[in-house]
Amino acid sequence: MKTGMDAPFKDAENAALFQVLINTAVDGIIVIDAVGNVRLYNKACERLLGYAPEEVLGRNINMLMPSPYREQHDNYIEAYRTTSERKIIGIGREVLGQNKDGSTFPMYLSVGEGWLGNEQIFIGIIHDTTERQVVASRLQEVQAELAHVSRLNEMGQMTSALAHELNQPLTAIMNYLRAAQRTVAAFDDPAIVRAQGMMDKAAGQTARAGEIIRRLRDFVEKRDARQSHEDLNKTIEEAISLALVGASDANIKAVLKFDQNIPPVLMDRIQIQQVVLNLVRNAVEALQEVSIRELTIETGFEENGYAYASFSDTGPGLPDEVASRLFQPFVTTKEKGMGVGLSICQSIVSGHGGLLSATANENGGTTFCFRLPVIDA
Ligand SMILES: Nc1ncnc2c1ncn2[C@@H]1O[C@H](COP(=O)(O)OP(=O)(O)OP(=O)(O)O)[C@@H](O)[C@H]1O
Ligand SMILES: [Mg+2]
Repeated sequence: MKTGMDAPFKDAENAALFQVLINTAVDGIIVIDAVGNVRLYNKACERLLGYAPEEVLGRNINMLMPSPYREQHDNYIEAYRTTSERKIIGIGREVLGQNKDGSTFPMYLSVGEGWLGNEQIFIGIIHDTTERQVVASRLQEVQAELAHVSRLNEMGQMTSALAHELNQPLTAIMNYLRAAQRTVAAFDDPAIVRAQGMMDKAAGQTARAGEIIRRLRDFVEKRDARQSHEDLNKTIEEAISLALVGASDANIKAVLKFDQNIPPVLMDRIQIQQVVLNLVRNAVEALQEVSIRELTIETGFEENGYAYASFSDTGPGLPDEVASRLFQPFVTTKEKGMGVGLSICQSIVSGHGGLLSATANENGGTTFCFRLPVIDA
């Protein structure tokens, strides 16, 4: 029976076909003899390894290998010929290739073994796997990002649990304070009156702590989006008070310029507050690096039917390396930053049909601004 391989061509044609095959192969093909000298070296090898055929033919194949393979290779062939133990022959594996210019690249090397008359030869086929490695490393990055996200998620849960835990002692403090106040209410000794004033202040601070915790829980707890018509100023004001906790200690002056004539805006209040929180927190963080620390928060209503809120700081401005990728996740210049704040802001604002932008201020500093469409109730 005739098969496709049985003398399909004449001898001369066979020789020509062989040449075409070797030279058009995309993968590198190298043939070596039993002592490791190169007998054939195709065009793809020239491209992959950078050596011309005349530099390689007749020389030991180990010149093409990076250390430590280079030093081991002669022993390896010898060991194979005496023991027939296979490490790569007939199998193939991922190895590191080295170009003449010293650069290395990942490649899949498969080695076959054959006979040319009485002479034993080895045929190596080199497949450049750089592309595959790029995909694999991108995959790893994505996995790392996912791990990040799930850590964030855990943080949300922890915050929620912490807020819950803190609520109980705060309630107890409040109750004790009230009881103490009632206990001394009937006395008008000046020292007791002073103590009462202090207890009032303590109660005020406790209430404030409770409020912060309540808002914190609102922010982190998982919930469905709830849209309603809200007062933009009030929404922002609530969020700022949470975001600016500790800001006065940091010597930050906050200036509010609220337009009182903004129509109600259809929004998910908690989500928009999350945007405000992230923007204010970024500003506060940026202001740590400068001595004049001002944050101006302005709201307004534009003719084209958009309400806006802008957050303008006197900070150092956006670092060049993040400016173009600002809204991408995991872009950060902060040691402890996750780089998710702005990407969350962006997705919330665009989810509301709005726009988030960042511009550099004339006198340094940055202004972030979000616009939300005002839809009639
Ligand atoms: N107001 C600002 N002034 C200067 N740089 C800013 C400002 N806001 C953001 N940036 C820069 O943009 C980067 C990305 O901000 P983003 O809020 O997304 O992440 P982050 O603040 O680094 O971390 P995370 O918000 O997740 O804790 C910051 O690391 C910072 O370099
Ligand atoms: Mg941030």
